[in-house]
Amino acid sequence: MDKSLADKVIIVTGAGGGIGRESCRVFAAAGARLVLADIGEQGLRETLEAIKNDGFDAETITVDVGSEDSVRNMVEQTVARHGRLDGAFNNAAVEQIGKILTDITLAEWERTIKVDLTGVFLCLKYQIPAMLKNGGGSIVNTSSGVASAAIPYCAEYVSAKSGVVGLTRAAAVDYGSMGIRVNAILPGIIRTPMVQRLLDDPQFAVMFERLRERHVIGRFGESSEVGEAAKWLLSDASSFVHGASITVDGGIGANGA
Ligand SMILES: NC(=O)c1ccc[n+]([C@@H]2O[C@H](COP(=O)([O-])OP(=O)(O)OC[C@H]3O[C@@H](n4cnc5c(N)ncnc54)[C@H](O)[C@@H]3O)[C@@H](O)[C@H]2O)c1
Repeated sequence: MDKSLADKVIIVTGAGGGIGRESCRVFAAAGARLVLADIGEQGLRETLEAIKNDGFDAETITVDVGSEDSVRNMVEQTVARHGRLDGAFNNAAVEQIGKILTDITLAEWERTIKVDLTGVFLCLKYQIPAMLKNGGGSIVNTSSGVASAAIPYCAEYVSAKSGVVGLTRAAAVDYGSMGIRVNAILPGIIRTPMVQRLLDDPQFAVMFERLRERHVIGRFGESSEVGEAAKWLLSDASSFVHGASITVDGGIGANGA
């Protein structure tokens, strides 16, 4: 039995959705003590039910990662309940709104940056001090393949996800010597509710079909495949991996054809 996360207290944001939910199932099966965090209560309930059906347990907390008070509360509640924090999968985000750059309003830009980039900053800001109190920890931030190669009509999302890569490196440089490892995962296209919403949009459906062909493995990814990579990064098995951006993308990032 995989016990690579045994007794590690781990916060997962975006736990109520695709990659977050399936990753939580992977982490729970590896022995993690999970705090499932999301802005959506229904999604959290469904994830908890899935974990219980698998024979494991977890706690839930609602959070808006774009709100400093809410993120501080998430970390404080976790430490109050479990006495410490060992890991975090900062995975919550909103998707691209689908406009060419000059049509994006300032309000739309600011909303995406607030959730997808500032949200990760706030999580790091409160998780790192909590981890330092017990000697260190491992943090995994979800970026995206679009941080390496942009796709059309995604300027605000590409910018936020590129920022997550930079933020990951900056945090790694600042805190690596203190026992905190920080890495990013760059997924290719993963079959989740977020992607389904984009596939339902004719503008994105055509583009996503073209992108499917560029995944060398010949298909979109599954959320659990991202979860397996995140599990390894959260575990001590990846102890010398630090400040890295790991693609989990079926080879699309390597495909120059
Ligand atoms: N699915 C893909 O193909 C893909 C590709 C690259 C990167 N990603 C990234 O992977 C992560 C997960 O995406 P997904 O496809 O599972 O999306 P999803 O929409 O299925 O799940 C995202 C979750 O984040 C939550 N969320 C949104 N705003 C929040 C907020 N302010 N505070 C807390 N929670 C909030 C949502 O409620 C949802 O449960 C995201 O960071 C996304 O950008 C996804």
